[in-house]
Amino acid sequence: MRYLFCLISTTLSFNLYAACSLELTANDNMRFDTRKIEVDSSCDQFTINFKHTGEIAAEWAGHNVVIIESGNYSKVVSSIDPKLGLTSGYLPEMPEVIAKTAIIGGGAETNVTFNATKLSKNQKYTFFCSFPGHFGQMMGNVEIK
Ligand code: CO
Repeated sequence: MRYLFCLISTTLSFNLYAACSLELTANDNMRFDTRKIEVDSSCDQFTINFKHTGEIAAEWAGHNVVIIESGNYSKVVSSIDPKLGLTSGYLPEMPEVIAKTAIIGGGAETNVTFNATKLSKNQKYTFFCSFPGHFGQMMGNVEIK
């Protein structure tokens, strides 16, 4: 029983040390503050807390965070359509989208929590902003560690 308790405590403290969330920002210059997001493979859920540190309104130069398999990048970014509107992230409903935050304007914050067990170490992932015209500059890699 004592052994079991120790085992449970060890497991719990291990999970506490694994960072299953990330603070990410973007600015009025259409840049994320990092080109790489690392997701610990021990995380079941992973949360991205996302903040737009600029001042421009969401309608003019909002930002979001979308995560996809890198192999689907061309397909997904070619689906970006201004007619689909801001609340959809200018994207249709598509299974390729693993996670997507709302599009936010300067000074706003949002977050998304996704099932990290769906991500594989053997797969490459990309995060990007799906505001029309932003994906070329606002993108980076998601790595499972
Ligand atoms: Co953007």
